Amino acid sequence: MAEIKTIAVMGGGQMGSGIAQLAAVHGFDAWLLDTDYNALSRATKSISYSIQRLVSKGQLSQAVSKDALGRLRYTLNLEELSSADVVIEAIVESEEVKKKLFLELDKIAKSSAILASNTSSISITRLASATSRPKQVIGMHFMNPPPIMKLVEIVRGADTSDETFNATKALAERFGKTVICSRDYAGFVVNRILMPMINEAFFTLYTGVATKEDIDVGMKLGTNHPMGPLELADFIGLDVCLSIMKVLHAGLGDNKYAPCPLLVQYVDAGRLGRKRGIGVYDYQPMPNAVKPASKL
Ligand SMILES: NC(=O)c1ccc[n+]([C@@H]2O[C@H](COP(=O)([O-])OP(=O)(O)OC[C@H]3O[C@@H](n4cnc5c(N)ncnc54)[C@H](O)[C@@H]3O)[C@@H](O)[C@H]2O)c1
Repeated sequence: MAEIKTIAVMGGGQMGSGIAQLAAVHGFDAWLLDTDYNALSRATKSISYSIQRLVSKGQLSQAVSKDALGRLRYTLNLEELSSADVVIEAIVESEEVKKKLFLELDKIAKSSAILASNTSSISITRLASATSRPKQVIGMHFMNPPPIMKLVEIVRGADTSDETFNATKALAERFGKTVICSRDYAGFVVNRILMPMINEAFFTLYTGVATKEDIDVGMKLGTNHPMGPLELADFIGLDVCLSIMKVLHAGLGDNKYAPCPLLVQYVDAGRLGRKRGIGVYDYQPMPNAVKPASKL
């Protein structure tokens, strides 16, 4: 396999921007592509903020941060990705939309390029079937936020070659990550276990067993989780959680994976979590408290 020099990341949301940052910080030329100009503009800001934070904590040198920012390029144009050795897709969690993109990527990316997906749950085998290079298609599932979380879950599709697997594993390790390998079944390892727990937390809230705060404190202090499940759902994005539950439900064919109606309703209402300022919790700044009128 040719040496990896250029990495292109598709989708400049919370995951894509973090993956592009990782690539640039670890010495790769990195492209970040989104179809939405505003998403790219948010990504530019969040990447420089995140890199500056790492510098201020002493986890990154000024020189590396300057180099990384210089190696990152942002684009709305898919054609720019023709120079990439690896393309990592991190767009919306929809099989239909991802398949359409893989079909296009297959035409534009160089013939030797690996096409990886950061999907949380969707079949890599089915995404690969939209391309003419299923041997070079693989799941590379980063955790949120990618620059901080230590794990990458690698998912082999039915036809993923050993060469593609070894190159992807080496890349994840160069990013400083620990790798686990999953077979290609809905939700893989991490979300097969995590999402039903989050969904159950929604049912616990929906059926009035406890308040959201008590559910989260219960799981934090009772099971030593760093975040409560509802807080974590807001962090991941409730739309992403709902999409994953639907994939588990359809893919594993068991009603125990049916999404909680409350989760569905929040998504319908646009309460998508932190990224929208409101989800299970409200993150919007409180309006300025009205000052009491001074006595004359
Ligand atoms: N949020 C998490 O905690 C998390 C964790 C691991 C994996 N993932 C997976 O990563 C992927 C992205 O999730 P996210 O949370 O970053 O979502 P997000 O909603 O923050 O970002 C998705 C981005 O993709 C862009 N986009 C949509 N269609 C596109 C297209 N055709 N071409 C280019 N850009 C397009 C959107 O404009 C948006 O900026 C999903 O597959 C999700 O399941 C998410």
